[in-house]
Amino acid sequence: MTEQSPVTQTNAARVAQSPDAQVVTAVRHYTDSLFSFRITRPASLRFRSGEFVMIGLMGDNGKPLMRAYSIASPNWDEELEFYSIKVADGPLTSKLQHIQEGDHIIMRPKPVGTLVHDALIPGKRLWLFSTGTGFAPFASLLRDPETFEKFEQVIVTHTCRDVAELTYGRELVESVKTDEMLRELIGEENLDKLVYYPTTTREESAKMGRITYLIENGELFSDLGVPALDPATDRAMVCGSLGFNLDIKALLEQAGLREGANSDPAEFVIEKAFVG
Ligand code: A2P
Repeated sequence: MTEQSPVTQTNAARVAQSPDAQVVTAVRHYTDSLFSFRITRPASLRFRSGEFVMIGLMGDNGKPLMRAYSIASPNWDEELEFYSIKVADGPLTSKLQHIQEGDHIIMRPKPVGTLVHDALIPGKRLWLFSTGTGFAPFASLLRDPETFEKFEQVIVTHTCRDVAELTYGRELVESVKTDEMLRELIGEENLDKLVYYPTTTREESAKMGRITYLIENGELFSDLGVPALDPATDRAMVCGSLGFNLDIKALLEQAGLREGANSDPAEFVIEKAFVG
């Protein structure tokens, strides 16, 4: 960081001194509004794929400015990965979007969350429904062998306004299918279980429309050649905007699936993607 105000420099120093400071190891920008980054992982941090932690920077008032972020890396990864929106006037992301390799950020090492296998009862088919940065927890789960050991089929849907916003998810799915290390870890025999269903709602693409619409009119199921949602066989994890989560929840409940929790596993679980 070269062009910093004195305030920002002071804050950077404060962040580095925090007992929860971690070092940024990589940053990648996808669009004007999306980026991913990786940080060091404390040796003592254990988490379940799909969980989130609080991460942040020091605010201008000298107090930590923390937000919930899904961990996008799997639980076996040596580093932690995050996938974030950039909001010009967002209290945290307006600053976070400028981080570079070698900078420090704060991470509270207390992972929690409901998008975990423990919150679902066994089933045949796992649906991962996401919009925007809601793909992040699924980037973790899709690199975890447990996801494929537990289900006969894993279908991940990702809906964004534009094609470029699908890049992070598309590359992640491709890496699971083509990266030698990931293929071996997940097991060649499991790779065919993974089905990727991207859609856009504004920019023209091969498949357009909100996923809720494609569920309601049955197009999702006919496109994939799978039966409609059935509580006997289907399990779902949902992560996106509040409106999206509510609309998907209504459709899942209409199909007879019940919402689960860590303490009371059932057929689907929901979490709101980080915004701001
Ligand atoms: P749309 O373009 O029709 O609003 P956002 O950037 O607003 O978070 O939206 C990300 C993606 O999620 C967009 O493609 C958007 O479609 C879609 N989306 C937003 N709200 C809903 C909802 N309630 N149900 C289904 N899809 C939604």
